[in-house]
Amino acid sequence: MRQPTDRTVMHSYPGMVAIVTTHYKEQDNVMAAGWHSYISFDPPIYGVAIGHERHTYNIVKQAGTFAINFLPMEKAEFIQQSGVYTGKNTDKFSLCEMGFDRGITTDAPILHDAYVAYECHTIDVNKYGDHDWFVGEMKKFYRDPDLFQSDGLPDDEKLTIPLYLGRSVYTTTGERKEFRIDQD
Ligand SMILES: Cc1cc2nc3c(=O)[nH]c(=O)nc-3n(C[C@H](O)[C@H](O)[C@H](O)COP(=O)(O)O)c2cc1C
Repeated sequence: MRQPTDRTVMHSYPGMVAIVTTHYKEQDNVMAAGWHSYISFDPPIYGVAIGHERHTYNIVKQAGTFAINFLPMEKAEFIQQSGVYTGKNTDKFSLCEMGFDRGITTDAPILHDAYVAYECHTIDVNKYGDHDWFVGEMKKFYRDPDLFQSDGLPDDEKLTIPLYLGRSVYTTTGERKEFRIDQD
């Protein structure tokens, strides 16, 4: 039976993990972020929560730009690696053999294996407890059209979207249900 508790109940997952990439002064970095969101559709604005002790935190703060990448299930191990190793002492791109191109409006890396990616220019940073939310205007979008159906939904036959479950475990989407609700 459900019980009240004063201890935090963190129920953020299962969920998609954004791979945040950054570049500042010859240095590139990459990290996994489960806490991220579209904030506005028009104009397009995206936000991501970055802990103060992350190497990414310092780089994003100085760069003023970042990129958000989404990887398929085949690259789930890299998602986990980018969320465990730190760029303070590791070049995660070389170690994990992840290639990238530079962005068009930013030098932040756009991962070769990303099926969707966004280039973001920071417009706001707010501190909430042990994380800052970096909010960026989305200046460029990438998407692999071959992996999506004509209605815009992901094509399950071609794209398996990894969902982080917690405790280093990844799952994926399952049964689909459709609800068409008529409104007056
Ligand atoms: C699945 C997953 C989700 C994570 N989500 C976040 C997050 O939303 N924000 C954050 O600051 N760190 C998050 N982390 C932790 C960072 O990715 C991790 O501390 C990483 O090593 C930081 O790398 P850096 O020091 O190179 O920036 C997550 C880790 C994993 C594995």
